[in-house]
Amino acid sequence: MGEKSETREKKIKSVSDLSGIGPTTLSKLIEQGYSSLESIAIATPQDLSAAAGIPITVAQKIIKEAREALDIRFKTALELKQERQNIKKITVGSQSLDGLLGGGIETRTMTEFFGEYGSGKTQICLQLSVNVQLPNDKGGLEGKAVYIDTEGTFRWERIEAIARGSGLDTDTVMNNIMYIRAVNSDHQIAIVDELQDMIVKDPSIKLVIVDSATSHFRAEYAGRENLAVRQQKLNRHLHQLIRLSEIYDLAVVITNQVMARPDMFYGDPTQAVGGHTLYHAPGVRIQLKKSRGNKRIARVVDAPHLPEGEAVFVITEEGIRDVEE
Ligand code: GTP
Ligand code: MG
Repeated sequence: MGEKSETREKKIKSVSDLSGIGPTTLSKLIEQGYSSLESIAIATPQDLSAAAGIPITVAQKIIKEAREALDIRFKTALELKQERQNIKKITVGSQSLDGLLGGGIETRTMTEFFGEYGSGKTQICLQLSVNVQLPNDKGGLEGKAVYIDTEGTFRWERIEAIARGSGLDTDTVMNNIMYIRAVNSDHQIAIVDELQDMIVKDPSIKLVIVDSATSHFRAEYAGRENLAVRQQKLNRHLHQLIRLSEIYDLAVVITNQVMARPDMFYGDPTQAVGGHTLYHAPGVRIQLKKSRGNKRIARVVDAPHLPEGEAVFVITEEGIRDVEE
């Protein structure tokens, strides 16, 4: 990992990172509704200047910075093609599942695994935090993983078994996974807020996992009357994760437990509760379903660049594998 001397400069991720924004200006901007880079990127210099009490020239400068940070500009179709070609992939451990994903989990993307309890969401996360460390020619990125665990289901013993199953040095593998338990949704949000500094300091971080992204939010904002607040908070959190993946060229993987509804397999089961969508964020969504024994079925849900279809894999002692015929 050490030989590639990559560096990550501190990039602009939030309003407070814009140049010349002190605490007073920051609180004025937030008060006036300019709390996100997006809101500043689309503001007029006049409005921003009036709202924050800053000179027009400063307003113009931070608008330009916000647009650059979000990469809002005309691009040629060729640039778009090149951006896609720069995406890297992490193998999940099963050729069948990799095939479904177009080669594996993508960087610059948030991938969601959703499904009922025991469908394999956590096992896939554990497997990926080992596989991200593999050499490039073995389907890895020679990188480290950050594991944000909200349910306390992370098991280092499982990491050890999966690493051993792949013939890797178990201590090295475990040493490259940075684990934290998020105790509630505010803590979960704060961890992601602070993640940027960690990623800047350690460019070898190539994977960020949140298992599960939704459980704290569901538990804390239960009931119809809290739905709007929950969606708003969760949306913001997920967009922040997506932004991290795009800016730092890393893979973000989240999980989301949904109740099994056989009639919903081809629809969107996250709409199950009261007909409301739990959240809406771009990215790749994979539905997992239990099958016989240790077999699991995966399906891609609305990912226009991936072919439709299913993949079958098994969860073994050594991790995620293909079904042996
Ligand atoms: P929830 O978090 O409850 O929503 O479920 P999940 O989707 O995260 O399920 P998880 O990934 O924990 O999958 C659980 C399944 O993985 C179990 O039913 C087992 O079949 C399998 N599994 C978990 N640990 C082991 C293990 O140590 N050895 C083997 N062979 N299989 C395991
Ligand atoms: Mg789990």
